[in-house]
Amino acid sequence: MRTKIVAGNWKMNNDQNETNALIKALKSQDSFGNTRVIIAPSYVHLAQAVALTNDCEIEVSAQNMHEAKSGAFTGEISPSMLSSIGIRTVILGHSERRAYFGENDDTLSKKVANALDHDMEVIFCFGEELEDRKSANHFEVVKAQISNVLFQLNAADWSRIILAYEPVWAIGTGETASPEQAQEMHAFIRNLIQDQYDTALADEVSILYGGSVKPGNAQEIFSKQDVDGGLIGGAALNAADFTTIIKSI
Ligand code: 13P
Repeated sequence: MRTKIVAGNWKMNNDQNETNALIKALKSQDSFGNTRVIIAPSYVHLAQAVALTNDCEIEVSAQNMHEAKSGAFTGEISPSMLSSIGIRTVILGHSERRAYFGENDDTLSKKVANALDHDMEVIFCFGEELEDRKSANHFEVVKAQISNVLFQLNAADWSRIILAYEPVWAIGTGETASPEQAQEMHAFIRNLIQDQYDTALADEVSILYGGSVKPGNAQEIFSKQDVDGGLIGGAALNAADFTTIIKSI
């Protein structure tokens, strides 16, 4: 059985008080059952988020980290800094990092290697732009994004990889991929992994969908066979909405 995961990417939202309040509101919900629940607040609130969640099942992830282990990289955060405050998971390759901060396959390969070197788990994001889909190039784009960065890993490394398919045209736009479009892409991804590695490994990898997941559409998307949960942006900033999404699994 693949692990079901719902992760909230808070992006550059929530000050210290808002971070505390949102975590407390999430903690007041019933148990989330077998679903792994992960939140990704900003760097400056990670330590407080870890402290607030150490008595519950909610896990805390970073939204990014630098590809180097340490050194003269003013303003950057290393994986050892993250792991020293109890962070075991990091989101890498988000389309906003790729679009606004120039992250490419080369940078991401280094980041993934550095995260794994520090025993961290990676939520690896990828997804096509609208033009790619319009020109029926979306499968090729996704294949390249995954294979260029992740197919150099050995099979054992994949126990620490979570995939997140986030079509760029669906992020923050209110437009989601249809459940069928999500399933089609997730099945394509699982086949890629099966071809590169083997069926057992492909069956074990959790593949999340992200892009305008809301309480009203989560259940239908999560019901698809190869969709193992979601990476949630806007709706993760509201405790009631995020909880409804988690319980939709
Ligand atoms: P939205 O849910 O706001 O579309 O954001 C998705 C996302 O980018 C999660 O990483």
